[in-house]
Amino acid sequence: MNPVIHPNYPLRELNTFGMPVHAANFCVLADLAELPALLASAAFRHGPVLWLGGGSNLLFTRDYPGLVIKVALKGIRVLADDGDNVLVEAAAGENWHDFVQYTLTQGWSGLENLSLIPGTVGASPIQNIGAYGVEVKDHLAQVVCADLQQAGREVVLDNADCHFAYRDSVFKQALAGRLLVTAVRFRLQRSFRPRIGYGDIQQQLQAMGAGDAPSAQQVSAAVIAIRQSKLPNPAELGNAGSFFKNPVVSQREAGALLARFPALPHYPQPDGSVKLAAGWLIDQAGLKGYRDGDAGVHARQALVLVNYGHASGSQMWALAQKVRDTVRARYGVELEPEPIVL
Ligand code: EPU
Repeated sequence: MNPVIHPNYPLRELNTFGMPVHAANFCVLADLAELPALLASAAFRHGPVLWLGGGSNLLFTRDYPGLVIKVALKGIRVLADDGDNVLVEAAAGENWHDFVQYTLTQGWSGLENLSLIPGTVGASPIQNIGAYGVEVKDHLAQVVCADLQQAGREVVLDNADCHFAYRDSVFKQALAGRLLVTAVRFRLQRSFRPRIGYGDIQQQLQAMGAGDAPSAQQVSAAVIAIRQSKLPNPAELGNAGSFFKNPVVSQREAGALLARFPALPHYPQPDGSVKLAAGWLIDQAGLKGYRDGDAGVHARQALVLVNYGHASGSQMWALAQKVRDTVRARYGVELEPEPIVL
């Protein structure tokens, strides 16, 4: 079957910043059987091509000049279950949060700290999504891919093959553009080991009356409450989550900064480097709540840039540059954008 390719297609509803741009060509991939024909199509071969999940980690600064393909592959199935450990596969187009909630209702734990992250299952390994002390790599067994240079042939990568790091993986590096993630396999547990050491989770659990031994569903509810209190809902206010990664600097650089700014939240890394809280740097530079037209720095979490309505992608990008310049001038620290800027 040949997938239907739509010319000049509006993308506003398909990116969480709500940018009113168009794609020169657009199609939906809902069935892997259509992939070979899609790869052979003129629109694909003449490129450029953008694979789209939930559109929650990109900023369009202009119309997309090539083919945008929305990955809408669906399905969840259990591959193995030994009574405690469950190996479950979810197709790339499944909504991440809905999948996490589904696993919790089945009594499987592991992904609860990653509740309410926008986007799709297929995007989760690409930037190794993480929150509240957990990253998707901690529970990921395998990533099922289609090799785009070999007519979509299936390739299965084990966790170690993915070279996961903070907001990074082989899919953003050596294999970028080569592999399409079609499904992800997770290793989850019926026995629950809470990870509630991060930030406000414990406080939130107490406020919810969850006691000392919370269930995975209670931890998920606490994470949801914290996220809702800090992070803007993209359905109400356009945004792509954290706009910058937390910068990782050398121990020497961190030491010098901490001598000047003792309150700077910092997280020593296993390799001796130190991760700094970019939100704090932006906040303390006086930019939290800053607004230029409809482009703004969120008032409750300075790491999130928001579109108050009609900001263009280039206005959002100009604001990002202002934030970077201000942070560089004040602290000598370089901020890197987290979303893909197109
Ligand atoms: N902080 C401020 N002011 C701010 C924001 C943060 O002082 O405006 C301080 C906080 O008080 C805290 C520290 O900075 O001491 C860290 O803040 P927070 O716990 O909110 O987390 P973050 O480092 O800003 C990261 C992830 C988030 C994730 C949270 C929770 C990145 C780039 N962001 O943010 O992920 O939800 O931790 O684990 O790593 C995302 O990637 O889109 C995202 C939302």
